[in-house]
Amino acid sequence: MTTGLHPLGGGGLRRPAVGWYSVPHRVPTSAGPRELGAGYPAARPRRLRRTPALRRLVAETRLSVDDLVAPLFVADGLDDPRPVPSMPGVVQHTVESLVVESKRLGSLGVPGIILFGLPRPEDKDATGSAALRPDGITQRALAAVRDAVGDSVVVMADCCLDEFTDHGHCGVVDQATGEVDNDATVDIYARLALTLADAGAQVIAPSGMMDGQVAAIRGALDAGGNGQTAILAYAAKYASALYGPFRDAAEVTIAEGGDRKGYQQDFRNRREALVEVALDVAEGADMVMVKPALAYLDVIADVRAAVEVPVAAYHVSGEYSMVKAAAANGWIDGPGVALEQLTAVKRAGADFILTYFAGEVAEVLGG
Ligand code: PBG
Repeated sequence: MTTGLHPLGGGGLRRPAVGWYSVPHRVPTSAGPRELGAGYPAARPRRLRRTPALRRLVAETRLSVDDLVAPLFVADGLDDPRPVPSMPGVVQHTVESLVVESKRLGSLGVPGIILFGLPRPEDKDATGSAALRPDGITQRALAAVRDAVGDSVVVMADCCLDEFTDHGHCGVVDQATGEVDNDATVDIYARLALTLADAGAQVIAPSGMMDGQVAAIRGALDAGGNGQTAILAYAAKYASALYGPFRDAAEVTIAEGGDRKGYQQDFRNRREALVEVALDVAEGADMVMVKPALAYLDVIADVRAAVEVPVAAYHVSGEYSMVKAAAANGWIDGPGVALEQLTAVKRAGADFILTYFAGEVAEVLGG
């Protein structure tokens, strides 16, 4: 109902900060065609868009370097960093180049990195056993990076097995059913998490989407003297075609043309994300993640409203590569689109974002 007192009328809308006290303008006083104008000419939202300083002042969402976590790959047996063709600007690091890059990101003000270790191809097996070696590639890399950056950058470790299994699944496969065996896999994750924490990871990020993985990892960390190591749960992780370039980067091929639909979420589902998130928080997750990001802004907003813990979003490899490819063709302004996308992820409710753009965006935004 229009009250005549202010241009946007009643109905629970907040009183706009324009001239309500003087009512100098002609305003609609009764329901009728004039209401279609919704307050014009008194209301002129363009007033707040006139200058960069005005826009800066009233911006509802701010993307800063503090919001970024950089995913980094480190491969065993490399002499030099190896570029990932489907992810321009991303490389598989040696331990040495990883240390240099971690320090560079730290000096740019990026607060976190997440490591993915890649074994030599000949070290892959059915159970991903190379992942758990105390002197394995991820563990050596974690130790070297922590040694170099100390506490100045939050060092996270992805906790999964797909890089280390010869069949490319995120866990062990039950020979009888052909399915990934949930509970056997969770036992391995718990032991893996302990080796990662012992090597220096301050945050363990289980990405396998096995039921009960957070509780098992929390239990193992606590029992193993790592009660201060945090868990960032990939809580709502969807079976997504957007992981394609990552599998290039991580040299993961799922055997027999398989997929992860038996454990990762179905992208048709929205409410199911809240089931997953609630379970992970109850199991002891310190932070939860939605992945991928852009096609799941509704899920990010839902999760943000449902929990009090920090919510992360993973802007994944395919999201990165699409921007890079279109920009390389001159079809879009790459940095502009990257900033718009990452800001949208924050606007939807993410507290921080895992993104391959972290370094580039940090250079643009300044530390
Ligand atoms: C599993 C894992 C994947 C990603 C992060 N952790 C791949 C998968 O689930 O198939 C994908 C990240 C990306 O696409 O950027 N270890």
